[in-house]
Amino acid sequence: MRERLEKLTESFRSELADAPDLKSLEETRVKYLGKKGEFTAILKGLKDLPPEERPSAGVLINETRDFFESALEAAKTGLSRKQLDAAIELEKIDVTLPPKRRETGRLHPLSQIIREITGIFIGMGYEVAEGPEIELTRYNFDALNIPADHPARDSQDSFYTTDGHVLRTQTSPVQARTMEAKKPPIRIIAPGRVFRADEVDATHSPVFHQLEGLVVDKGVTMAHLKGTLSVFLKELFGEETKLRFRPHHFPFTEPSAEVDVSCFACGGKGCRVCKDSGFIEILGCGMVHPRVLSMRGIDPEVYTGFAFGLGLERIAMQRFGISDMRLLYENDVKFLSQF
Ligand code: DAH
Repeated sequence: MRERLEKLTESFRSELADAPDLKSLEETRVKYLGKKGEFTAILKGLKDLPPEERPSAGVLINETRDFFESALEAAKTGLSRKQLDAAIELEKIDVTLPPKRRETGRLHPLSQIIREITGIFIGMGYEVAEGPEIELTRYNFDALNIPADHPARDSQDSFYTTDGHVLRTQTSPVQARTMEAKKPPIRIIAPGRVFRADEVDATHSPVFHQLEGLVVDKGVTMAHLKGTLSVFLKELFGEETKLRFRPHHFPFTEPSAEVDVSCFACGGKGCRVCKDSGFIEILGCGMVHPRVLSMRGIDPEVYTGFAFGLGLERIAMQRFGISDMRLLYENDVKFLSQF
């Protein structure tokens, strides 16, 4: 009997030592102390012993069982403690660690400028119109009264697709498309990407952005054009901005003008930015040519209109102090995150 109990104790000890968790401890308990466990079997065998040996065997069995019970209890406490320590270790927060940076996206400088200008014109009752970047020469040139021998049509200056389309060289074709699609009164602006076969440098890119404006209605005059551009440019560059209209020529407007604004860098005194002239050329404009109206089925005897177009890169560069246009297209997040 003693031998049997010693063997049992030995195997119990090693199982206890190896128990990885509370669940296997419980399995060990059931195996030894459970109803169908080892001790039940041993107690059953007690009756097979000679009567004089039974009392001492009983004592031994009880002592061993007490030891098993307290050993199990101690192991249980130890294991719970260990599990708790492990959980605490896992959930530990090091408050001295630097916080994780959350990257927030932001609008590209050009998108910011487009939104700002669009907002100004929406405030004046304009709608935003769009046209395709791969354009029919009919809209990009013919409908705008640009003669067949105009240098802008040359493939030296414009990109053509193999099937005879042109990457629009200006946003002005949206004028023609709009006049075709709807009847006056028309009041639209059209921001978008345009393409020209220019060499890349600090102020040129073969892809850039323009914003077109078109108003057609009864009784629209050059005074409306001037007033509109004055409101727009003062809102964009500041109330103190001065405007200067210079006669110019565009095939699709008559009369035509270029508009300069007083230099935003020096306020008009003359500096490097304005090449000491005090003014910076900002847009082209004019009264829509009667032929452009009639080509789209609008009677120029009844309706008149004005139009304007401006480049957006230069405005973004001025606004954000960017000295090289190429930076706008490199999509360097470090650079863009400054604006
Ligand atoms: N399309 C012209 C350009 O690319 C800009 C322009 C000038 C647009 C006069 C107009 C306009 O609508 O009336 O240089």
